[in-house]
Amino acid sequence: MDWGIKNRLARIIKPETGHTVMLAVDHGYFLGPTSRLEEPHKTIAPLLPHADAVMLTRGILRAEVSPHTQTAIVLRVSGGSSIVGENLANEGITTSMEDAVRLNVAGVALSIFVGTKYEHQTLLNLAHLVDKGEEYGIPVLAVTAVGKELEKRDATYLALCCRIAAEIGARFVKTYYCENFEKVVKGCPVPIVIAGGPKLATEADALEIAHNAIQEGAVGVDMGRNIWQSDHPVAMIKAIRAIVHENASIKEALDILNGLKADKVKA
Ligand code: R5P
Repeated sequence: MDWGIKNRLARIIKPETGHTVMLAVDHGYFLGPTSRLEEPHKTIAPLLPHADAVMLTRGILRAEVSPHTQTAIVLRVSGGSSIVGENLANEGITTSMEDAVRLNVAGVALSIFVGTKYEHQTLLNLAHLVDKGEEYGIPVLAVTAVGKELEKRDATYLALCCRIAAEIGARFVKTYYCENFEKVVKGCPVPIVIAGGPKLATEADALEIAHNAIQEGAVGVDMGRNIWQSDHPVAMIKAIRAIVHENASIKEALDILNGLKADKVKA
């Protein structure tokens, strides 16, 4: 692997543990001012020191994140559709590789929509992005997006998506945790991170997903709403970190979370 790609990947997936905590705050690119991400800098700034990488668009990066940050940037470079539009899967590439280089990113991310009307288009988007990424030494993260059809998230479908993304040349893949997740990991020759999805009923549910994903072979999480829609986002990301980097059990992570909540109440 080219030195630049290896170096950038090591800024995201920490060599010390082989794992990563990515903070996803790119939701506005199709959802607009999502709840608790209305003023992104207020959400992002306290969480940034606890994330190995942050995933976002160039607009939010430029306007809402300090250029002094030491957290790796994974730039969302696909889009072109919205939650109120005709079809969320109808995405193109929205940011050039040259701009990604100017922004000093560690990686770029793009969604693929396998099994939809836009499968071919989004897979060719990925192929084009990988060609450009390899030219500049920037790893590409393929996101196996499911649009509004969350019921599609089973192991057979996600294994298909992840494998196709890796075959086209994605250096790492983001997908959903699911039952029989080992099947997804086994069929995918590049590292996998998991999204959190919409906010779950309890924080314990989100910690459980992160824990199970790591135990079953994910290298980390690229989590958004289950962190920053929590009433205790910093405590939540710290608990996730313990799971991802310190092999904490669900109970240990919950103890960290509850301890930090209690400290905040006392302060
Ligand atoms: C999908 O690619 C979105 O843009 C998010 O990055 C992704 O869904 C992760 O965020 P969440 O954990 O909120 O699902």
